[in-house]
Amino acid sequence: MKRVPVIIDCDPGHDDMMALVIGCCSPELDVRLVTTVAGNKPLELVTKNALNVLNYIGANEVPLAMGCDRPICRPKDHANSKLAEFRRHTGSIENGAHGATGLDGFQFPENNPKEPTDIRAVEAMAEVLRESDEKVTIIPLGPLTNVALLIRCYPNLVDKIDKISMMGGTSQFVFTRQYMEFNTFVDPEATKIVFESGIPIIMYGYDVTYSVLFDESVIRKIEEHKNQTSHMVAELLKTFMYRHNGAFPWLGLTDTCPIHDACAVAGVVDPSLITQSELLHVDVEIGGNYLNGATVVDYAKTTGLPANVQVVYRMDNQRFFDLMERCAANGK
Ligand code: RIB
Ligand code: CA
Repeated sequence: MKRVPVIIDCDPGHDDMMALVIGCCSPELDVRLVTTVAGNKPLELVTKNALNVLNYIGANEVPLAMGCDRPICRPKDHANSKLAEFRRHTGSIENGAHGATGLDGFQFPENNPKEPTDIRAVEAMAEVLRESDEKVTIIPLGPLTNVALLIRCYPNLVDKIDKISMMGGTSQFVFTRQYMEFNTFVDPEATKIVFESGIPIIMYGYDVTYSVLFDESVIRKIEEHKNQTSHMVAELLKTFMYRHNGAFPWLGLTDTCPIHDACAVAGVVDPSLITQSELLHVDVEIGGNYLNGATVVDYAKTTGLPANVQVVYRMDNQRFFDLMERCAANGK
């Protein structure tokens, strides 16, 4: 089977963890590089989490490079501080959906030997693109800061990017009155650079990720496998369900939960998992007073502007959960 060369850019995060397991434990993908970006938690923390996951699932050979510790233009922690205010107003649980560590719910071994590379994410991504004899798919699972800077710093390498399969944005699903999705909310300017790059983009936003909700039965099937990766995945999915639903009580979820980032990598493993999508014009607000970071999807096709993003609305849920289970079982 011809494996798809990919770069995964992430900010673990429980759903990033699931995406890394699918990416690194599926025979269909050749993960050339993992990069980290500040988002769910500060850069040092999401990097530690990503290194722990890669080491624990047996993917130590995959290089990891650290990226940006803040958005391109906005203050370092503007999104999480705004969300913290919002959570206080709505009575959310402390430390949000991912907990204080960014990956609460599992104790990884202290002596992780895996270290980041000496070069930073943008350089490492450029090196992978330059050295690859085929186009590479980039899978951003956090704010688009690293990917935007790659596009700006290495315009000569943009043609080596086959597509961007991103978790981010939203079309008609309203998560909060700011109409925002977290990744595009953190770095609106980076999002705009990516959306205007001309690179084929597949956007897995809240419309699809809040339609693919795992439940206890999915966790039980994963924990029936006795390898350490399945155990780790099951424990972290249990924690994420509790924390996500406690962090966003207004969504009314109790015994189901999204696994956002896993959708964007699963769609690269098996594009037939996508059951509903549409090529549309998508922009992002960057100059507003209240809605900066909100993705504006021309789903009614009233702007007459050219389509630039394939917006995913639905996936085959059962086959998606089967893929999650299969990849966890493939891990160490
Ligand atoms: O809005 C969901 C996205 O924000 C996911 O990537 C999650 O990990 C957080 O980064
Ligand atoms: Ca993420």
